Amino acid sequence: MDRILVLPGDGIGPEVTREACRVLEVAAERHGRKLVFEEGLIGGASIDAHGTPLADDVVALARECGAVLLGAVGGPKWDDMPVDTRPERGLLRIRKELGLFANLRPATVFPALVGASTLRPEVVDGIDLLVVRELTGGIYFGEPRGRALVEGRREARNTMVYDESEVARIARTAFDAARGRRRHVTHVHKANVLEVSQLWCEVVDEVAGEYPDVELNHQLVDSCAMLLVREPARFDVIVTGNLFGDILSDEAAMITGSLGMLPSASLGEGGVGLYEPVHGSAPDIAGQDRSNPLATILSAAMLLEHSLSAPEAASDVRRAVSQVLAAGHRTADLVLPGQDTATLGCRAMGDRILEALGAS
Ligand code: IPM
Ligand code: MG
Repeated sequence: MDRILVLPGDGIGPEVTREACRVLEVAAERHGRKLVFEEGLIGGASIDAHGTPLADDVVALARECGAVLLGAVGGPKWDDMPVDTRPERGLLRIRKELGLFANLRPATVFPALVGASTLRPEVVDGIDLLVVRELTGGIYFGEPRGRALVEGRREARNTMVYDESEVARIARTAFDAARGRRRHVTHVHKANVLEVSQLWCEVVDEVAGEYPDVELNHQLVDSCAMLLVREPARFDVIVTGNLFGDILSDEAAMITGSLGMLPSASLGEGGVGLYEPVHGSAPDIAGQDRSNPLATILSAAMLLEHSLSAPEAASDVRRAVSQVLAAGHRTADLVLPGQDTATLGCRAMGDRILEALGAS
């Protein structure tokens, strides 16, 4: 019996995690695994109930369960709050508390969705990249931070700081991942301006010495943003810090067709894994059954693979997603403006995936 902690969060979080849990349960059961789902609050939902974006007992439960499936946090209701009490703090805190320093964000293009990208099909075809984003350091967590009034003027500061051990361990994650792929790592930085990036270049070069079979190149973040649109298929594994990884992973997601398709896994030293879609809480469509559950369903596949060591169940889920898309089923986000395609709601998309799972 495996325990999974589900943290639906805010906005479309509850509806997409609901579909992912149905899929997870069926996929696991087909391989003889019985799952038990626990549920907890995070983000705005937790602020409303307990006055804090993440309560201590939820962190404790996450440690006990070992695998966490998360929806999304945030929304307009909490937008005017100071950063240190906002819903997003809950997400940052759970990542930090569980030591989840490695965030894996694979961006692949399903053949059926080649036409859903705003890029030309020949540019999109063959995209298969993995963003390895450092998740518990850098400017997201650096001190000093905060706001002050200096001589009557408002001032604010954040600090980008990394030490060599943080860089080395995420670099190893990237090189290890590359060994199971096309053996190419692109380290993304801003070393022409930032000392932090110069340290990253040095340390990544040192770690590369342990991986003579993997090719490494260093790419400035601005030119990487450009190359991702121009020639995305050239990338295999991208390794970078917290802030650059946040930005580039949204870009990588969008070139594959929709932010609604991208899953992620956050792993670390403690053995706990946290799985969440790359997209946000989409408050504008929340509760209307218009969201796309596939990123969360694909995150559930990553959970099966990394936390439950059930790679066959994970493959079943991915195959079901691929089949359903190949059969022409689409949620609204997968249809470009002007395209005349009937769309499914979140629940109906979940139903199609379950049918495909049952049939395979
Ligand atoms: C992400 C999100 C989060 C981040 C926000 C919601 C705090 O954008 O997971 O990419 O910046 O890490
Ligand atoms: Mg982001």
